Amino acid sequence: IFAFHAQEVGPVRFAESFGGWVVTRYADVDRVLTDHEVFSSDELRHSTQAIPHSSNPLLRGLQAMDPPRHHVLRRVVSQVFTPRAVSSLEPSITAKVDALLASAGPSFDLIGEVAYPLSVHTIAGLLGVQPSRWPDFVRWTEAITSFFGTSTVDEARQTAFGEALTEMGDYFREEFERPSGIIATLMTSDLTEYELIDFCALLLINGHETTKTLLVNAVLCLVSQAKPSDIGLAGEEVLRYLPPTGGTDRFVTRPTTLGGRELRAGERVVAMITAANRDPEVFADPQTFDPDRKPNPHLSFGHGIHFCLGAHLARMEVRIALAALLRRSWRITDLDTHRTPVGIDILKATLTITS
Ligand code: HEM
Repeated sequence: IFAFHAQEVGPVRFAESFGGWVVTRYADVDRVLTDHEVFSSDELRHSTQAIPHSSNPLLRGLQAMDPPRHHVLRRVVSQVFTPRAVSSLEPSITAKVDALLASAGPSFDLIGEVAYPLSVHTIAGLLGVQPSRWPDFVRWTEAITSFFGTSTVDEARQTAFGEALTEMGDYFREEFERPSGIIATLMTSDLTEYELIDFCALLLINGHETTKTLLVNAVLCLVSQAKPSDIGLAGEEVLRYLPPTGGTDRFVTRPTTLGGRELRAGERVVAMITAANRDPEVFADPQTFDPDRKPNPHLSFGHGIHFCLGAHLARMEVRIALAALLRRSWRITDLDTHRTPVGIDILKATLTITS
């Protein structure tokens, strides 16, 4: 499984198939992530190419914005994601993990029965969504993420996507009438109603697929290992070794040199996090999963102004879930994987508790 996930680290190169520059060395990836003046996240403004889904409102979320607007909005939403605010969710996440594992039975589907509900419910809870509406959230998230997961236009998925966005928008518009929690904080800003809905939808998309994948990857990495001595360090190594976000796009705003290559304004660049995390210049023995690796400056949550807002939350969720799983003995009894351009997707992982 792991061998074909590895990405080759090498010079910056132009890939016709992708229509842009592929960046793999740690130093180059780090520059693309941190030099936001030259490498813009706003594809609508800077790309010279036709981008699929470019009319999609979700692309205008925080992650796809440049300063100064990014700075203004990021400051508002950062208030919500402080380590303290996130830590206050620990008891409810622990209770949720225990409840999911208790109802899962001796042999269970790790994704469908644990990872997926845990990640969606945590974000729904964070947004103050009533538990009675969580099933709707699960449905909307499925429709939205499965649309983004396709490269070809599929009419049924497109319709489901549009409907999910409308329903979610209606739901949030009702919530804005009686704001509480995070939504109340967000409403103290000058965010328009449209931006508020966009941000809430973005949280679901950013926060759920990635956290779910991280938990599944952690189980895969740890299945053949002795129990890790430090779950925190082991979690960081899972992030380095199998990053849930394989890469991220940028657009060149002005001519620049990267890794000895000349890049022109408007060109597309993909910073390959998977590869950077295995650069031998930075990580000793990078192809080895070492649960005690320290320091571990992986780029799996990005770097610079777009550094993942949910990093604390994701780390905490995975630490709690792993601790609960590691209190039991289990093995994987069924595994189905799919290879994507940036790594692997685990389609199915059945865990059987052995004692
Ligand atoms: C940004 C990864 C979980 C919300 C990012 C970026 C990465 C990332 C790589 C930077 C993207 C870029 O620079 O283009 C991950 C991983 C996660 C995770 C690996 C789980 C293991 C979450 C969660 C949330 C979240 C749980 C929210 C609840 C965000 C937001 C941004 C972001 C809002 C955009 C920040 C900005 O542009 O300023 N994430 N993420 N993420 N993430 Fe996460």
